[in-house]
Amino acid sequence: MKISCWFTYNNLEELYFTGKTVVVIDVLRATTTIIAAFENGAKEIVPVNAIEFAMKATSGTFGGKTLLGGERNAKKIEGFNLGNSPLEYSADVVSGKSIVFFTTNGTKAIVKAKFADHLFIASFNNIAAVAKKLLELNLDFDIVCAGKNGGFSLEDAVCAGKLISEIMQKKDNVDLSDAALASVKLNDVFGIDFYKTLTECEHGKLLIENGFLDDLKYAANFNSSNLVPQFSGGSIKILEAQSS
Ligand code: MLT
Repeated sequence: MKISCWFTYNNLEELYFTGKTVVVIDVLRATTTIIAAFENGAKEIVPVNAIEFAMKATSGTFGGKTLLGGERNAKKIEGFNLGNSPLEYSADVVSGKSIVFFTTNGTKAIVKAKFADHLFIASFNNIAAVAKKLLELNLDFDIVCAGKNGGFSLEDAVCAGKLISEIMQKKDNVDLSDAALASVKLNDVFGIDFYKTLTECEHGKLLIENGFLDDLKYAANFNSSNLVPQFSGGSIKILEAQSS
């Protein structure tokens, strides 16, 4: 099994992903929030890569069952129902709902990888479930870190390393790209106390300044979910829960 890792999606072409198995990670906060929404009964999430698409997608036919969620500069966008805090996506708000979702980096990474054969959503919350799914598939795969504005994000790289380490505990002969190997080493150092890492990384500090410390606590909750959200046919859904 060959595992490749990308610290940002920006330089990758959409067609690169054709036929591949891909895992997208945006710990702070898009993929953490997507998992929270499904934990609380959301029906599906439609990721979009522009605010205008989000507005268009909700303007018609969903009969009041569609919510608009996401952020710009970590804050809720005017006219949206929800921001990008996982704590907002509670059962009373999202259960049974379709959510059109735009975020600065996370949803753009997901949309970029849309031609993948298998496209999974991961965060620190569902590492074991995603690892189990990948081990079952037993295919080469790519991890795409959303990063931050085209650059590196420590929290995403550490989460990627955690996922790879989980797989390497259960499988021999895993071949790592240089970035994948680097992410494993980063996890060895920064994954020991992931909450501390979240409070020290650039985006974590920005979120704390904006009053979102509790989101960091939520994001650091290792393996709190056994759901594996999967992008398929234009939206993210839970196709099957992983038994632990
Ligand atoms: C993103 O997609 O860039 C993030 O999820 C931003 C955020 O923390 O809201």
